[in-house]
Amino acid sequence: MDVQPIDPRDDRAFADWFAVVDATQRDLWPGEPGWLAVELRARALAEGGDERVELLVAADDTGRVIGAARCGAPLRDNTHLVSSELWVHPAHRRRGAGRALLTTVERRALADGRTVSLIEHDEPAGADPAGRVFARAHGYECAQVDRRRDLAVPADPARLVRLEEDCLPRAAGYRIVTWRDRCPDEYVDDRALLGRRISTDMPLGDLAVEEEDWDAARVRRREAQSAAADRSSIVAGAVDGAGRLVAVTDIQLPNGAPEKAYQWDTVVLGEHRGHRLGTLVKIANLRLLAEVSPATTSVATWNAEDNRYMVAVNEALGFTVVGSGLEWQKHL
Ligand SMILES: CC(C)(COP(=O)(O)OP(=O)(O)OC[C@H]1O[C@@H](n2cnc3c(N)ncnc32)[C@H](O)[C@@H]1OP(=O)(O)O)[C@@H](O)C(=O)NCCC(=O)NCCS
Repeated sequence: MDVQPIDPRDDRAFADWFAVVDATQRDLWPGEPGWLAVELRARALAEGGDERVELLVAADDTGRVIGAARCGAPLRDNTHLVSSELWVHPAHRRRGAGRALLTTVERRALADGRTVSLIEHDEPAGADPAGRVFARAHGYECAQVDRRRDLAVPADPARLVRLEEDCLPRAAGYRIVTWRDRCPDEYVDDRALLGRRISTDMPLGDLAVEEEDWDAARVRRREAQSAAADRSSIVAGAVDGAGRLVAVTDIQLPNGAPEKAYQWDTVVLGEHRGHRLGTLVKIANLRLLAEVSPATTSVATWNAEDNRYMVAVNEALGFTVVGSGLEWQKHL
């Protein structure tokens, strides 16, 4: 098995890499678009110095590409780790491609001074546990279990109104704001603080990660990356009496396959918790999503299983479990 890095700008090499990713994700979640080529390419090419991304392929003796990996090395914080995803084409499993990829990922990480390797993968309910058996066989320990929950949208308007009525009495003094794609300038520093906080406020299991270093420029870089990936960001926030943004929730909408949207960050600053702001921003954002994207039929969200509050909010909104996301860790 031959493992090599590829240049994401090379059309042919990227197409071979993506074909494996696409076949694997369609096998895992039949009927779903999954990551689109434009999105993964934009992530690999993103500039700005937040993360260095490497794409690797594993080819068999005939030169056919049967395995793929994406390795992300944070550059601004968490410089001790590398975080990877591995995919082996469903028709070519148990031939050593996964092992060859992971061995190369670890060797390159060590050469780069990284001491912790993380790998993550999805496991639909009832699916083959190959990913977990593979990770354990290579000395990884499960550091975090997320549950994936989906919600059919548009959400029942009456359900949203009832929930909102329950929440509003607790949220006096706050107002809800929404935007698409670009955070208003007046909130961009607050958005950066929220990005910093979410990186360590969410339950992290046994993951050896540290706080991420966010500022307004990084918020703008992330927005530019979403645009380059042909994604829209649908965002709702809560503003306190002093005019500060103290809560935010962000849904990512792939413009090339809008039927499925993805819940990203949701965070309420610690000192503003207990006011039902997490629920209220999500209600506002589901309404905004329905307004701007009638083609969207489902939203997926991932939460640590011990993230009791966020899970309760999602269940109140009607999200139901469809599988898990597992994060594995190894000290190199
Ligand atoms: C997990 C995955 C990457 C493994 O790829 P692979 O090329 O089949 O793995 P390898 O052939 O290199 O297997 C190496 C070892 O992992 C273990 N393993 C892998 N798949 C297994 C399975 N289905 N059942 C039991 N053991 C398995 C075995 O110990 C195997 O060694 P062996 O074949 O000598 O017994 C592949 O199944 C896949 O792409 N799954 C979907 C995506 C995913 O879960 N990726 C993240 C993995 S952490």
